[in-house]
Amino acid sequence: MNKRKSSGKKLFFILPLLFLSIAAILAYKFGERWLRNALIYLSHATWARNIVENLQISRTVARRFVAGESIDEVMAATRALNSRGMTVTLDYLGESVNDRGVAISARDEILRLLDRIEEDGLDANVSVKLSQLGLRIERGLALENLRLILMRASQFGNKVRIDMEESELVETTLDIYHRLQDQYEFQNVGIVIQSYLYRSEADVTQLIDEGAWVRLCKGAYAEPPDIAYPDKNDTDINYIKLVNMMLSEPAREKGVHLGIATHDEKMIMATKAYAAIHQINPDQYEFQMLYGIRRDLQQELIKDGYSVRIYVPYGTAWYPYFVRRLAERPANMWFFIRNLFKQ
Ligand code: FDA
Repeated sequence: MNKRKSSGKKLFFILPLLFLSIAAILAYKFGERWLRNALIYLSHATWARNIVENLQISRTVARRFVAGESIDEVMAATRALNSRGMTVTLDYLGESVNDRGVAISARDEILRLLDRIEEDGLDANVSVKLSQLGLRIERGLALENLRLILMRASQFGNKVRIDMEESELVETTLDIYHRLQDQYEFQNVGIVIQSYLYRSEADVTQLIDEGAWVRLCKGAYAEPPDIAYPDKNDTDINYIKLVNMMLSEPAREKGVHLGIATHDEKMIMATKAYAAIHQINPDQYEFQMLYGIRRDLQQELIKDGYSVRIYVPYGTAWYPYFVRRLAERPANMWFFIRNLFKQ
């Protein structure tokens, strides 16, 4: 009886996984873009989340990208990175929250995180997602939660950066970012720009004028071709264009500080080349990378005298973040699938 129950349970896991693997193989055959979009769809799918979160192997693989589940664990990871010469930005995982109580407890956790960074004397700031703070429930809720977070951060002379999410949230995210500066006069808030969006050049022009604190990334979501460059080459070309705009002399004179968030050696080389030609000191910008990705490159940049900040996520809501990391590199996906079948 028990045997039958446990083989039924196994089947419950194995069948959808088999389906996933076949979908992934087909997608790989038809192109990486297809695979990427399929995975980004899965990052939002509750049915897939329920399966993947319950597998021990997923937790093991996810640990490569996530520093732990508790503040204590993430403080230890931050201390280790600081000791290797890297600064950190901390991300309490969670997004697209649709319950007010969950948004408020996320805010409280981020307040505790700011307290701990201060108490432990670590070199770290914080990154937040507005959809975790309640943006999809009510704009005012996310604004108020972030206002409280910024107040706490400013008591410690610390900073908070707003991550950029799906394109449907970009306009509101930028509005909230501006409101926190204009109406509440916060100067410790930064923003993220995604080079795959057509609109980003215009946003960057405005942010330069405001002397903003900006992180530039390529963009991690699946966006339609009328909103974002469908071709990765165009995203890369735009990335370099936006780096050059934000490292230009007029931008630096306005006070722009740029975080070049990428693991792409071509983007890094283009930045280094622009900085060398224009004699820009490495302390006037920083490279940013994700925890667990291209550690060799992170260390090499430090060795060469560049500033490097590592984005370190932690918490139990790791599923969407983890699946986006799989989507960025098919090799990660194959590693995951291979290990699933070894179980
Ligand atoms: P690209 O995808 O071209 O990859 C270049 C190379 O980097 C690959 O060939 C591989 O060697 C390595 N690599 C990249 N991703 C990898 C992975 N997952 N595993 C292993 N190797 C990998 N996005 C967003 O939409 N909003 C945001 O707020 C942020 N925030 C953010 C912060 C920081 C610090 C970083 C580094 C990135 C983000 N992102 C993000 C994610 C970003 O948009 C993008 O999806 C990833 O950085 C991957 O793009 P790359 O620039 O690394 O280049």
